[in-house]
Amino acid sequence: MDFTLSEEQRMIQEAARDFAQNELLPGVIERDEAQKFPTEQVKKMGELGFLGMMVDPKYGGSGLDTVSYALVMEELSKIDASSSVVVSVNNSLVCWGLEAFGNEEQKQKYLTRLATGEIIGAFCLSEPEAGSDATSQKTTAIDKGDHYILNGTKNWITNGGTAEIYLVIAQTDRDKGHKGINALIVEKGMEGFQIGPKENKLGIRGSDTHSLNFNDVKIPKENRIGEDGFGFKFAMKTLSGGRIGIAAQALGIAAGAYELALKYSKERKAFGTEIANHQAIAFKLADMHTQIEAARYLVYKSAWDKDQGNNYDLSSAMAKLYASQVAMDTAIEAVQIHGGNGFVKDYHVERLMRDAKITQIYEGTSEIQKIVISRSITRN
Ligand code: CAA
Repeated sequence: MDFTLSEEQRMIQEAARDFAQNELLPGVIERDEAQKFPTEQVKKMGELGFLGMMVDPKYGGSGLDTVSYALVMEELSKIDASSSVVVSVNNSLVCWGLEAFGNEEQKQKYLTRLATGEIIGAFCLSEPEAGSDATSQKTTAIDKGDHYILNGTKNWITNGGTAEIYLVIAQTDRDKGHKGINALIVEKGMEGFQIGPKENKLGIRGSDTHSLNFNDVKIPKENRIGEDGFGFKFAMKTLSGGRIGIAAQALGIAAGAYELALKYSKERKAFGTEIANHQAIAFKLADMHTQIEAARYLVYKSAWDKDQGNNYDLSSAMAKLYASQVAMDTAIEAVQIHGGNGFVKDYHVERLMRDAKITQIYEGTSEIQKIVISRSITRN
């Protein structure tokens, strides 16, 4: 068993760390406060190849492995989870989905622009009444021969306002249940497609989350991904990989909070010594460090599974479940270690605590991950 990162992986990790320090850290508090999308930062991440990391270079991607992607997600998320979620959705849910299941024409038309970051994409599964219960799609895509007519509402869509391309899951034939669902490529500006107001969120406030409305939007048949009825499986398969990205995001949030808490505890003095010398604080740091390391191995293992061609449905669910809990626990303790300073924005840990929460919710709540895990271990 070899836990060593390759030279290339270490260089990519270093590049992401530098980028996060030099480009994401400046203004991160202000972007969070104002709910300002990191437009410039996303453009630069596209130039660095972070938006199409695993895509084949022939479609404009970086051709890297999933472990490298997880390393980048971790480093970016230590500083700015609002920016890293853009990277995660574009890489895992949009680019990967199109590359794995799109046809050559769709790849040439859409993937090449998405992988370079020229445009970004969004993945639209959740609805007002279909979040965890994803087979209960109310959005319809009625088959009209050479096109579909799309009607319905999608909720909490990351990149909702800034995306140019939307992968929309919709029900074509209700009698067929989940086998009657399709995944369609929808372009911004199509007639009848409206973007709702931006959500005012607890965390990842710099990211751009909207509801979307489709009113008789005409979608050409060539925009369907895969065979008729493949849409639900498309969503499930894509989300399995997405969960590696979000698990890596959670890991990064935890590691970022821990690094700040460690530094602070070596500087801040109370009762005549640095607070790191008090066992009450030192034991918190020991727990944080141990849990982060355990989360790291779950995340890297799942990324490695994907790179090896192993099934990663179980490992990605376990990685997301555990890493998101560690992110939440670590960020809360980091605020506690900072005391009064932890409660004000300047010290960053309160933002990391708010950002941590979403990792237990999106791309499948922790409860959904437990369904995936328990089914996997009891049915096999
Ligand atoms: N890969 C391939 N197929 C899969 C699969 C997978 N990982 N998981 C399920 N399927 C297939 C099943 O095999 C089944 O097909 P067959 O009938 O042909 O065997 C079909 O899908 C239905 O599966 P289930 O019977 O297991 O369906 P279910 O209704 O019990 O639900 C679930 C399964 C795991 C709970 C699923 O609904 C789920 O994952 N829900 C959560 C959805 C989610 O993650 N939403 C996040 C929104 S996206 C987001 O957050 C993006 C963002 O902006 C950041």
